[in-house]
Amino acid sequence: MKKFIVIGNPIDHSLSPKLHNYWLKNCGITANYDKTEIDKNSLKDFIIKIKNDEIQGANITVPLKNDIIKYIDDLSDEAKKTQSVNTIFKKGNRIVGHNTDIAGFELAIRHVKYDLEGKKVLILGAGGVVPSIIYALQKFKVNKIILSNRTMSKAEEIKKRFNNIFIKEWGSEIEFDLIINATSLGLKQNDQIKIDFDKIGKNKFFFDVIYNPRETNFLKMAKNNNHKAENGLMMFIYQAHQAFTLWHKIMPTIDDKLIDFMNK
Ligand code: ATR
Repeated sequence: MKKFIVIGNPIDHSLSPKLHNYWLKNCGITANYDKTEIDKNSLKDFIIKIKNDEIQGANITVPLKNDIIKYIDDLSDEAKKTQSVNTIFKKGNRIVGHNTDIAGFELAIRHVKYDLEGKKVLILGAGGVVPSIIYALQKFKVNKIILSNRTMSKAEEIKKRFNNIFIKEWGSEIEFDLIINATSLGLKQNDQIKIDFDKIGKNKFFFDVIYNPRETNFLKMAKNNNHKAENGLMMFIYQAHQAFTLWHKIMPTIDDKLIDFMNK
């Protein structure tokens, strides 16, 4: 049986097996999708399994999306630019690496029909997924992308690759239309991100990359103050959709039934 897998650390929380196995069944494909905790020292052995056809495809998640690159033969342009790979497989005799987080973010924004043109976007965080979000945002003709991270040097590293973004100090007052939480703040129930709701104006859009929990305090506060709020579930589903299509050459269905299933 064909085998697919998601690797990362931690991996327990991953909903990728649930989603991919649902689609595999729905599409009548005989294959299994599993998850395994791996650290970066085991990546070389893992790639050998793909080379030996023991595993047909893998998703790479936190914190390995960059570490995996040195074992990949061919990178997509998007993976190269973001230095982030989340989907791999063997093509001919070569291991290829793609970044489907970019399309995941782009399609999640299109899904909620938010018009980004001319908007000011504030990204909180400078972790692994941020270059993919910036890459996607640049396709939408946004007015400005501002990055704010607790550790400023990490934001500056990202600016070296995307020199038209702006960097602001963590916690400083910043004007925005769309604010994206790309930090890990919100994974724990008591996590808070300080935002002065009296000063940000009306009708802002709060997007949280986190989807587990479905509603972080960041989104809860946004809703309480009558702003638009969206979690990272659709981004997660769309990145998986792109990976599934790359591996199986079939586009699985995304409908209300699937979204309900993923929300259960
Ligand atoms: P990834 O694995 O996606 O790369 P990460 O590198 O752990 O994730 O990044 C998590 C993000 O959450 C970082 O931007 C981190 O800020 P630092 O670069 O300063 O570490 C941010 N983050 C985590 N805990 C935080 C906290 N208590 N306050 C502010 N930011 C926090």
